[in-house]
Amino acid sequence: MSSWFAFSFLLGNALTAWASPLARQLPTSPFETLRAAAAPRYFGAALGVPHLLNFTHDPLFDVTAVLQFNGATPENEMKWAYIEPERNQFNFTGGDIVAAFSAANDYVLRGHNLVWYQELAPWVETLTGEDLWNATVNHITTVMTHYKESFNIYAWDVVNEAFNDNGTYRENVWYTQLGPDYIPNAYAVARSVNTPSKLYINDYNTEGINNKSDALLAVVQSMKAHNLVDGVGFQCHFFVGELPPDLEQNFARFVAAGVEIAVTELDIRMNLPPSQADIEQQARDYATVVNACKAQGAACVGITTWGITDLYSWIPSTYPGEGYALLFDDNYVPHPAFNATIQALLA
Ligand code: G3I
Repeated sequence: MSSWFAFSFLLGNALTAWASPLARQLPTSPFETLRAAAAPRYFGAALGVPHLLNFTHDPLFDVTAVLQFNGATPENEMKWAYIEPERNQFNFTGGDIVAAFSAANDYVLRGHNLVWYQELAPWVETLTGEDLWNATVNHITTVMTHYKESFNIYAWDVVNEAFNDNGTYRENVWYTQLGPDYIPNAYAVARSVNTPSKLYINDYNTEGINNKSDALLAVVQSMKAHNLVDGVGFQCHFFVGELPPDLEQNFARFVAAGVEIAVTELDIRMNLPPSQADIEQQARDYATVVNACKAQGAACVGITTWGITDLYSWIPSTYPGEGYALLFDDNYVPHPAFNATIQALLA
């Protein structure tokens, strides 16, 4: 088979394979995209480099990203283990790919994240006391300065997942070595970099009123009093039908503390195979999250789903037997929750 014939055969198959799901996404009116319906808020997605700009692998990833979204968070590429794998040896390659894609599409770009106990380069865990702090200051300063000079990052998740569900501090290496003041001190370092980026604290299971969100609120109020924090990210990793009943009230009390908020990692998983009842409940649940954000007015600045398609979601590998959590299925066909999200955004 000639190489040209082979190429055209493969291209024809690719076009056929992804033309139909794409046709299901193409808006019949200008407001039938997430990004248009969400205005003036952004509607973003976590973007992983393995799937970005990889047209031969999956052209629909980029096409759906550009068609439907106007915000991005690097799924992993700006985490410590990726960006400073060895002390003072920085690798911005992956983060820059996501940042460049975002800049090319005029996205709202979120930096994720600077201080987190997971995906932490192993060498950091070996440090103690002042040496740990010096390495942390260097990491925050170097990473934020790189992106300050190269790209426009709307918000940084400076400290990620600092609390336990019972409201105590998570005993990460910073807490055990430096005590709870590592949190405000990290924001003071981030503030000293003097970028236009908003400084966020981001966590999960803080979406309702509970011990964890109470503890988070207390720290946010304290840091806000010293102008150290600008926003709170509510990850919103939910199981279908199990959203906190006081989501809107909880969002409101953080807004009342003087910060903006964002839904930063939204996905709503269910047992597989998806039942019709769960699929319908998921649509209602996505609308509930949208409405809780909209109820905060301009103080809820955007919604990000933690990925685009179920095909690459973190959930099946973390929660075996669960999935179907995003707005597009493995073939980029919109879930019923997609239309429910659009309608809630437009209401
Ligand atoms: O890239 C390597 C690959 O080379 C290797 O073969 C493979 C198997 O070991 O691992 C791959 O790295 C994995 C990476 O995802 C990329 O797929 C890591 O092991 C795996 O731990 C990592 O999981 C990520 C997880 O954060 C931990 O960083 C998920 O993709 C990502 O979706 C998830 O996102 C987090 C947010 O950052 C914070 N909030 C919770 C959310 C879900 O856990």
